[in-house]
Amino acid sequence: MDIQVTIQGSHDLAGQIYRQLREAILAGRLAAGERLPSTRDLAAQLGVSRKTTLDVFERLGSEGFLQTRPGDGTFIAGSLTRLPPKPPQQPAARATAAPLWDRLPAGLALPRPGTTLPFDFMGGVIDKTPFPFDTWRRCINHALRIQARERGAYRDPAGEQELRLAISRYLAFNRAVTSAWQEVIVTQGAQQALDLMARVVLEPGDVVAVEDPGYPPARACFTAQGGKVVPVPVDAEGIIVEQLPKNARMVYVTPSHQFPLGMPMSLERRIALLEWAQRSGAVIIEDDYDGEYRFEGRPMEPLKSLDRAGLVAYVGTFSKTIFPDLRMGYVVPPSSLLAALLKAKQIGDWHGCTLTQTALASFMLNGDFAKHLRRMHKHYTERRQALLAHLKGELSPWLDPIVPAAGIHLIARLRQGLQERDVVAAAHNESIGLYGISAFYAGEPSQQGLLFGYGGIDADSIDIALGKLAVVLPGLAER
Ligand SMILES: Cc1ncc(COP(=O)(O)O)c(C=O)c1O
Repeated sequence: MDIQVTIQGSHDLAGQIYRQLREAILAGRLAAGERLPSTRDLAAQLGVSRKTTLDVFERLGSEGFLQTRPGDGTFIAGSLTRLPPKPPQQPAARATAAPLWDRLPAGLALPRPGTTLPFDFMGGVIDKTPFPFDTWRRCINHALRIQARERGAYRDPAGEQELRLAISRYLAFNRAVTSAWQEVIVTQGAQQALDLMARVVLEPGDVVAVEDPGYPPARACFTAQGGKVVPVPVDAEGIIVEQLPKNARMVYVTPSHQFPLGMPMSLERRIALLEWAQRSGAVIIEDDYDGEYRFEGRPMEPLKSLDRAGLVAYVGTFSKTIFPDLRMGYVVPPSSLLAALLKAKQIGDWHGCTLTQTALASFMLNGDFAKHLRRMHKHYTERRQALLAHLKGELSPWLDPIVPAAGIHLIARLRQGLQERDVVAAAHNESIGLYGISAFYAGEPSQQGLLFGYGGIDADSIDIALGKLAVVLPGLAER
């Protein structure tokens, strides 16, 4: 360890070192129990004689700041942990963020580790246990071997070529989105793709239309990039095109599984949206965040594959198919935006982690990703069936599910004048985590309902949790 000590001139060297070490110990910068370098190494590091550092250690040791364990080394004394922490110093001038940041919500309703309940229907959560970690380890090792042979240098902001190729093949085969690998940009999750799109398309004050209810992190992202976010209501077919603001520069939609309500955008509505965008010149972001898991019917054509005018940016993520902490996503933008997006990506973070990208490329190209999707599809089918059996069965007097064809969450509207907050609180008392849909509305919610995410809860737990809920709900409805 290198200790930060500054020596000025050649006078009183031992005193200078002693005072700085003592100060660092008292301020907690050198923590109790931490090992110090040997007096020989410290002397070499500071360019002083060994005798000087020996004197310093002896003095600090005699004052109780240091403990020497023969044969092991010298450590900061453990008793110092009992010192009360120093009160934080008030900085003389307060650095301030631009006012915009005060208006943005604090956390984006992130699930915090340790706060989930035994029966938790939180959205955005994935069960990691079925993931083939042994295979993944092999992919990571393979990527490490490749990296060990390469020069340590910056790489292409668009991402590793094999991963871009793997994604473009996957999209062609599974999502009917045709793209050359050169058109795929690898991002840190879908969120970075939204951020990049907003950066390159929006000017301050530009209008961005979003679905209402919708995805709060997208709203926050567009606001943070200076956009004026205008919520547009959705009906059973998706965003209501006639209500789109005429001057919208960008529209953000989730056509395969409307977030959060779950219905797909009808083909009619998709075509109407594309026609509208063509007339107005607006750019469309199609967020296909969990369309991989389809349980009923045929998949609808993505907007991207219907787009003849070059206005759709198709955004995808591995947060639902692998796990969200992988932070891996992608965008296939209109080709006219590619160059600007690559500049923005490079300016933002140069590029993502190449180790994970190379590993993910082999995972996909070896067929392991497809195998994993098939396995997860089975798990989710079972969970979805369990959930729907309860919602359409004993819970149907109180809950009215919107049955989605795809995705790993569903919404149930509340009947009988039930209030979201009452149901959420009563469920919490039974160790069940339920989440109201009000938070997804930009303004006043037009309906009350609950989100049931089933990425992180297995079929048996769903049975137990909904069995308990069936006991609680009648009491709430009678109030
Ligand atoms: C609508 C929507 N888009 C995107 C994502 C995924 O975002 P990311 O890839 O940044 O994790 C989610 C995750 O819950 C989502 O609900």
